[in-house]
Amino acid sequence: MKETVVPYKHKSNSKKAQVAEMFDNISHRYDFLNHVLSLGIDKLWRRKAVNLLRKSQPKMMLDVACGTGDFALECLRLNPDKVIGIDISHGMLRHGNNKVEDRNLSNKVELIYGDSENIPFEEDTFDAMTVGFGVRNFENLKKGLTEMRRVLKTGGTAVILEFSKPKAFPIKQIYGFYFHKLLPRIGKTVSNDASAYTYLPESVEAFPEGEDFCNILTECAYRDVKRKALFFGVATIYTGIK
Ligand SMILES: C[S@@+](CC[C@H](N)C(=O)[O-])C[C@H]1O[C@@H](n2cnc3c(N)ncnc32)[C@H](O)[C@@H]1O
Repeated sequence: MKETVVPYKHKSNSKKAQVAEMFDNISHRYDFLNHVLSLGIDKLWRRKAVNLLRKSQPKMMLDVACGTGDFALECLRLNPDKVIGIDISHGMLRHGNNKVEDRNLSNKVELIYGDSENIPFEEDTFDAMTVGFGVRNFENLKKGLTEMRRVLKTGGTAVILEFSKPKAFPIKQIYGFYFHKLLPRIGKTVSNDASAYTYLPESVEAFPEGEDFCNILTECAYRDVKRKALFFGVATIYTGIK
């Protein structure tokens, strides 16, 4: 079994505690770095992922690992009654809630503290859910995915957007240089957290992507599991139905 990748290797506390600490540390720079380092593509990916839910017209939506709320806000394009976001980083939630308030959307979007591995909602609550760049950070992936399914209504869809690794020449090589060499340096300078942008490529490397992740979703009892690679496989959208 692969070793658990954590942000702060010199510390002995849990992955969950370290992940929350790391996102607290970089929360003031998260949006900026996200959009700059991805050249804005992250926004298009979230939009694409949300569009997959358009047909089902979800009314109650959950955005797991919502961070600063970009996915939850994108979900509003579907005109749901409510989008609730949960996250374990108070720092990320604070920045997200500032955005929600600035846009006068507090009646539609609620971002609250909540752990994906112990979701603070009853089963069969949500028509659909999203997770953007979150599952890779879960301490216990299967527990998180099983919890997500528990709070989904039967027939509801989970849409999961996560980094993956391009396989084809020359994108694989360009991406390898950018993700492993350039990005950690830029991230370190801008966010002041040297570990955060080393953890990013390491956690992507260790994540069970593609068919492996589809198999995990199936093991967690999702049905009709599908995946769609984005931008030469730099990211993948996975969908599964309860
Ligand atoms: C890379 S950020 C993604 C934020 C946002 N979804 C986006 O699309 O930009 C990952 C987020 O996952 C959160 N996270 C990690 N483990 C979590 C867990 N067990 N439960 C809830 N949130 C978690 C982190 O705190 C962080 O805010």
